[in-house]
Amino acid sequence: MSEPRPIHNLALIGFMGTGKSSVGRLLASQLRFDFVDTDDLIERRAGRSIAEIFTQDGEERFRKLERDLVEEMAEWRRRVISTGGGLAVNPENLDSIKRHSLVVCLWASPELIWERVRRQAHRPLLRDADPQAKIRALLESRKPFYRQADVLISTDNRSVREVAQQVLHQFQVARPRAPHLEKPDSTTGH
Ligand code: S3P
Repeated sequence: MSEPRPIHNLALIGFMGTGKSSVGRLLASQLRFDFVDTDDLIERRAGRSIAEIFTQDGEERFRKLERDLVEEMAEWRRRVISTGGGLAVNPENLDSIKRHSLVVCLWASPELIWERVRRQAHRPLLRDADPQAKIRALLESRKPFYRQADVLISTDNRSVREVAQQVLHQFQVARPRAPHLEKPDSTTGH
């Protein structure tokens, strides 16, 4: 953990197929926070899929949309933020998110990532002649960035519920006075 700082949100970073969205959705309902998936938000605003943005405008344009969204996050409160796998690979994005959120990286082995993503066709970076090799290479090159998270959690052989439990624990340690942990008003007058 780095020095004390305001923790208004919980941000999940990590490679494609590590379960950021499923775990994030569950955590949001447990914490009674809003859930935001950066890919979904970018798609909704652009009126196009991520794959279309990559093909029509190029990856650089997509990365700019991610950076713009990261700037907006400074105003966000009580949100679980699931980020696209490449977003935190930009150190400026990660530094900025750390100013308001606990950053948790979900980790998985390349083999398990492949198992999870092999039947999904929507990820432009995996439209490759050898997607397994691409996963291994990308994961290796991104390791130093993912390691900058406040907390690293392995998702190998763990269910969504188990991973969420671990993240929740870390969040409660980092933000012990979270409003949801305080007694509701109706019980304080006893
Ligand atoms: C990307 C991951 C994707 C999406 C885009 C690029 C990446 O998000 O943002 O395809 O660079 O790893 P998920 O991690 O949600 O699949």
